[in-house]
Amino acid sequence: MPIGRATPGNAPSTASGIHAFCSRWLQGRGAALPRDRQQRRRISAYGYTQAKALVYSRYGEPEDVLSLHTHSISPAHSTRLTLRFLASPLNPADINQIQGLYPSRPQFTSALGTAQPSAVAGNEGVAEVISSGSAVRTVQKGDWVLMKRVAFGTWRTHAEAEESDVLRVEKDGVTPVQAGTVSVNPCTAYRMLKDFYPLQPGDWFVQNGANSGVGRAAIQLGKRWGYRSINVVRDRPGIEDLKKELLDLGADHVVTEDEILKKSFAEEVKEWTRGGRESVMLALNCVGGQPTTALTKVLSPGAYMVTYGAMAKKPLQLPPSALIFRDLRFHGFWVSQWADAHPEEKKRTVDEILEMTRKGEFSDMPVTEVKWGWETKEEALKEAVKGTLEGFRKGKGVFVYRDE
Ligand SMILES: NC(=O)c1ccc[n+]([C@@H]2O[C@H](COP(=O)([O-])OP(=O)(O)OC[C@H]3O[C@@H](n4cnc5c(N)ncnc54)[C@H](OP(=O)(O)O)[C@@H]3O)[C@@H](O)[C@H]2O)c1
Repeated sequence: MPIGRATPGNAPSTASGIHAFCSRWLQGRGAALPRDRQQRRRISAYGYTQAKALVYSRYGEPEDVLSLHTHSISPAHSTRLTLRFLASPLNPADINQIQGLYPSRPQFTSALGTAQPSAVAGNEGVAEVISSGSAVRTVQKGDWVLMKRVAFGTWRTHAEAEESDVLRVEKDGVTPVQAGTVSVNPCTAYRMLKDFYPLQPGDWFVQNGANSGVGRAAIQLGKRWGYRSINVVRDRPGIEDLKKELLDLGADHVVTEDEILKKSFAEEVKEWTRGGRESVMLALNCVGGQPTTALTKVLSPGAYMVTYGAMAKKPLQLPPSALIFRDLRFHGFWVSQWADAHPEEKKRTVDEILEMTRKGEFSDMPVTEVKWGWETKEEALKEAVKGTLEGFRKGKGVFVYRDE
């Protein structure tokens, strides 16, 4: 008997009954089936799609609270879609959300038939529409879509969605990883460079965490728009290689946190900015804590600092003189809130970055692909999640789903 097919004698007759039945049945049987059957496309005779998701029922450390849950998805009807995920990144915010430290909290529900109400982890990703209800108008089978809202739950092989939950993207000429990572990091960099201070070609900005996904996007977009950048990274073995990598992306200067703290650094900045006649009016702060103080020293009077990350997990350290005597302005940015308020603008931003990617004008951030197939074990997925908040990583983790 194929996976997911209910036995004729005991199959429930209502849709929700069948759904719950399939979920329970799958949980009990999936692991015991012969390999050749497990590899088949997982759509049952009743049109139910079989899915796996990394879920959690309480907040905590990912290794303690995440579990791999198998369930079935009923056939798409009306304005509903069935999605097959292609790629979902593991962003630092995803971990904060699982820990209960993120402002957007998921809804814990029984929709997937878990023993306790649960939520699916993950916020960003790209999925393919594999079926749609008869009232769906804006997307069709085979289209690629991103999630419009935060906390959708993207660490899963398949999902049910409303048509209104998703944003169609043009898939030609981009990879799943490129499409799956476009809506958070590059969009954040784009909006912070455009929406706080009207930088003009030739103007300077400074940023820390410059080797992060956001930082790399800011370097490239800044270069494209003619802005010049001073980029701060943490020292490490092989720092010269990292500096070269960022210079090749379009950075004007790359310095370490230690170098920026040296007394002589102010003189260097003066040299770069024609004796200080060119101003540095924008800082992008990924780190927080003490490294923030160093950024303020580079800024010109009246400049803007936009804080978007807190990787040091410490409060901002700001010298009062920066506010009193130099009138620096401190702001924050959260791409989720921006996207909710500006859905059309989000679409334009995503489309523009994907178009640059297509033309070879925007390079991918380094990623570590984590293949997720039907037989991938919970432990392997949790192991991949574990390193997300660790420093000095080779690349961002991205779940890439096998089409089986
Ligand atoms: N506000 C928003 O809308 C928004 C959007 C996107 C991202 N973010 C935030 O931006 C930050 C970076 O995200 P991402 O996705 O770009 O990250 P990412 O690509 O995973 O890179 C992480 C960055 O954080 C640095 N880092 C890690 N641990 C650190 C520590 N203890 N002290 C200082 N730096 C440390 C890393 O530098 P090393 O190589 O030196 O470890 C790297 O530059 C996160 O805090 C994330 O939540 C915010």
